[in-house]
Amino acid sequence: MAIRTILTQGDPALSKMCHPVTRFDEKLANLLDDLKETLDNAKGMGLAAPQVGILRRAVIVVLEDNSMLELVNPEILAQEGEQAGWEGCLSLPGMWGNVKRPAWVRVRAQNRRGEWFEVEGTDLTARCFCHELGHLDGQMYDELTDRLYTSEELDEILSREEDE
Ligand code: NI
Repeated sequence: MAIRTILTQGDPALSKMCHPVTRFDEKLANLLDDLKETLDNAKGMGLAAPQVGILRRAVIVVLEDNSMLELVNPEILAQEGEQAGWEGCLSLPGMWGNVKRPAWVRVRAQNRRGEWFEVEGTDLTARCFCHELGHLDGQMYDELTDRLYTSEELDEILSREEDE
């Protein structure tokens, strides 16, 4: 296992459409293990293969119980409702945006052995599924919001909301 370098916005890999995974081999297992270690090290909520420069449809999402779920060739089967909330990305460090996402999603994906499974997510987990799947189509969340805020600006907004 190894910690890989997380690419930041401006790198061409982040705006590319990723290819489906067709080989469920040791190389894929290594990639998924490295994504997990890199995500754990960066203390993020999710990480997609293109963020480490690999244009394949594979992501890791941190679930509510803090476990990491690997999703290969994931697709959203169904979604419901809407939520607006603050979102960040390891490829846009120190920045935050308010993004509308579905309140609930059902996702279908394969594991590292190629077995299909389905998983549901609400709230932050639904947001995370949508965010990470977006990366696989070259989408960054800043395309979905009017403007980005720095951590300081966000702290100010959140403390103002607390006072109200
Ligand atoms: Ni991201």
